[in-house]
Amino acid sequence: NKNIGVMTSGGDAPGMCCVVRAVVRQTIASGCTPFAVYEGYQGLVDGGDMIKQMAWEDVRGWVSEGGTLIGTARCKAFMERAGRLNAANNLVEKGIDALIICGGDGSLTGADKFRGEWPSLMNELVSSGKRTEEAVKRFRHLNIVGLVGSIDNDLSGTDATIGCYSSLQRICQSIDFIDATAFSHQRAFVIEVMGRHCGWLALMAGVSCGADFIFIPENPPSENWEDEMCSIVSKHRAMGKRKTTVIVAEGAHDMKLNKITAVMVKDLLAQRVGLDTRVTTLGHVQRGGPPCAYDRMLATLQGVEAVKAVLDATPETPSPIICIVENKIVRKPMLDAIAKTNEVAGNIEKMDFEAAMRGRDAEFSE
Ligand code: F6P
Repeated sequence: NKNIGVMTSGGDAPGMCCVVRAVVRQTIASGCTPFAVYEGYQGLVDGGDMIKQMAWEDVRGWVSEGGTLIGTARCKAFMERAGRLNAANNLVEKGIDALIICGGDGSLTGADKFRGEWPSLMNELVSSGKRTEEAVKRFRHLNIVGLVGSIDNDLSGTDATIGCYSSLQRICQSIDFIDATAFSHQRAFVIEVMGRHCGWLALMAGVSCGADFIFIPENPPSENWEDEMCSIVSKHRAMGKRKTTVIVAEGAHDMKLNKITAVMVKDLLAQRVGLDTRVTTLGHVQRGGPPCAYDRMLATLQGVEAVKAVLDATPETPSPIICIVENKIVRKPMLDAIAKTNEVAGNIEKMDFEAAMRGRDAEFSE
């Protein structure tokens, strides 16, 4: 009988509540005891009521809830060893030695670091007199399993992160709404979508909504992008199009890493093409709201698999991450996936865009 903790961390994503529901219920179905850690890593550091035992009915109805009902936070205290020592102490107090974490790459890297430090944290709890040798004996190993929750679809090694299809759906629906008014007035709209380092949302929204032009971080436009964009938009207008849609990922930039903003694009369309142009920044409506069916299914299947991975793990098993590859739920070593993700981001920073694109292509063909 294991005590298994579940928490959500980093930016919320639709489907996180489904993860918590699936983990709680699969844990109970496996004869173990589930605990929810509230407010992400802050809850681990604070302990007490922030770590609550969960019952089957506590998560009733959570399958269709947006955001995360157990809260999430960006926690500075957990970045310090003293914070992690408190977190370890709180877990020992509740008898928890397995954690399932749903978050982005930063949250999962933090979790794996915590796992690596765990034996030394146990020693420190004993040497500082907080716990006896006897009390920490059964906590010699911390078991971590990761689930990727992020609307950006920015983790290498999985076809989809939990939340990305809900967000994409909301973006497409918003663009459909905008299209009606754009068509009526023959206007151009420049739409900024989320995606700090990853252009998946912008790219897929562009394909799904028939955008005229898109800007994404991984594939910056050619040096004369202003001319190129204006000539494409003008050509589409000459072919009879009454509306223009340009999508800009929030992390978009040119070949020299100069930021390309929605306002810059709007000014160009107004001044050079003569279009009545408006900017719409979709913002956090992309992130909130109920999960779509795909995310509910993904989060539920992955939550169940995460509990199975906890029960299968030995101290030697590297922390797994639960992925979906070609429609199959699979486990992969967490740190490999994170290293590959960082490689793509690093290539963008080094302005090696070809390598960044190769990295992203490899993700899709893996
Ligand atoms: O979840 C990732 C993300 O959606 C990014 O695309 C965006 O830049 C960021 O979150 C914004 O998050 P916040 O408003 O919470 O800082």
